[in-house]
Amino acid sequence: MSTNSQFKKILVAGGAGFIGSHVVDELLLAGYSVRVMDNLGQPTHDGNVPEWLSKSAEFVKGDVRNKDDWRMALEGVDVVIHLAAYMDFHLDFSTYIRTNLESVALLFELIVSEKLPIKKIIIASSQSVYGEGQYVCAMHGASYYAPRSEEQLGRHEWEQLCPICHMTVDPVVEKETDQLKPLIPYGISKLSAEQLLFALGKLYNVPGVALRFSIALGPRQSFRHYYSGALRSFAVNVLSNEPIQMNEDGGQIRDFVHVKDVARAHLTVLSDSRADFESFNVGSGVGTHVFELGKLVAAEAGVPFNPLLNNRYRVGGSRHSLMDISKLKSLGWVPQYSLSDAVHDYLEWVKQFGDLRQYLKKTEDQMREQGIQKTL
Ligand SMILES: NC(=O)c1ccc[n+]([C@@H]2O[C@H](COP(=O)([O-])OP(=O)(O)OC[C@H]3O[C@@H](n4cnc5c(N)ncnc54)[C@H](O)[C@@H]3O)[C@@H](O)[C@H]2O)c1
Ligand SMILES: [Zn+2]
Repeated sequence: MSTNSQFKKILVAGGAGFIGSHVVDELLLAGYSVRVMDNLGQPTHDGNVPEWLSKSAEFVKGDVRNKDDWRMALEGVDVVIHLAAYMDFHLDFSTYIRTNLESVALLFELIVSEKLPIKKIIIASSQSVYGEGQYVCAMHGASYYAPRSEEQLGRHEWEQLCPICHMTVDPVVEKETDQLKPLIPYGISKLSAEQLLFALGKLYNVPGVALRFSIALGPRQSFRHYYSGALRSFAVNVLSNEPIQMNEDGGQIRDFVHVKDVARAHLTVLSDSRADFESFNVGSGVGTHVFELGKLVAAEAGVPFNPLLNNRYRVGGSRHSLMDISKLKSLGWVPQYSLSDAVHDYLEWVKQFGDLRQYLKKTEDQMREQGIQKTL
């Protein structure tokens, strides 16, 4: 394998996870020397290094909330890719701040106090920084919307409605220049991490890049997370010979992107200084109705598509989210995989784990208990 000499060693924090392990594969393929730091914690792991993490990467067990762990992992490193995060919606709000934001502050404390020669930092941000985003009414134009009220959802009025004429409105694609209105601690921690990265990066001359992922799909995706999302649920349904269960009416629009395209985005911004101090959307740029995803999953599993609309909804969940990806495309990155590829690759992978209904049930029960998911 060729050695890429532009950087000596790249540290991938959270590199044992879903997106991280694919980033590691891409970096190794490009000839970089890679170290992974991961705490191997739940819900993603059971304390062991997963078999999917490449043996060609050096592994150190460490926690991004611990300064000494960062210090140890940063030895001899000149680039940091920080993907470790606390995710979903849980009630220990401070853990989002500590894991997703304070970790960036700790990293800079070390860079500054120990004069570490870090040349670039890339962090994982998220579509959740946009919150509900904008919708456009044919008569009254575009504006930023609040999430649908519980009363509205209780009436099964799933679409966003214009506050003036009460007609259904259409979603507007999210652009990096939009106003950012995160609604949950996770999104707030991600936006604050971007701001901290750029502010300290400019002050201390360390270029930073924030990548705002939409919904990444593909092999190695944790099936234990709360929000592992529609593909996980649908896959568990079809593999257990049960009907696909959909929240709301299945008419939600989402941007699904193959994890390998997400992984390649890291290489694009790594080697291009035009990316420095910028945030980029990383999605497919294609809006897909959730029921279309269901159809693809059923087709891939070879079962009929007879969805069960179960009148479930997630409180505060967006009706539609769509990403504009032209900014990252202007640096030469383009998504190469289709949604069918992602569905195929995920199902092939997840089959090996057998019956996963227990995980789905556990997360659904928890979400219901905490009042995050409701059924009418
Ligand atoms: N999967 C998506 O669709 C998606 C969408 C938007 C943003 N993101 C972001 O992408 C990043 C990667 O997410 P993922 O989907 O691969 O999740 P994942 O859980 O598979 O990977 C995260 C990794 O970080 C590790 N980690 C968590 N807390 C840690 C800590 N305190 N110290 C050290 N390691 C820790 C986990 O063990 C795991 O290996 C996260 O920052 C996430 O917020 C993901
Ligand atoms: Zn109107």
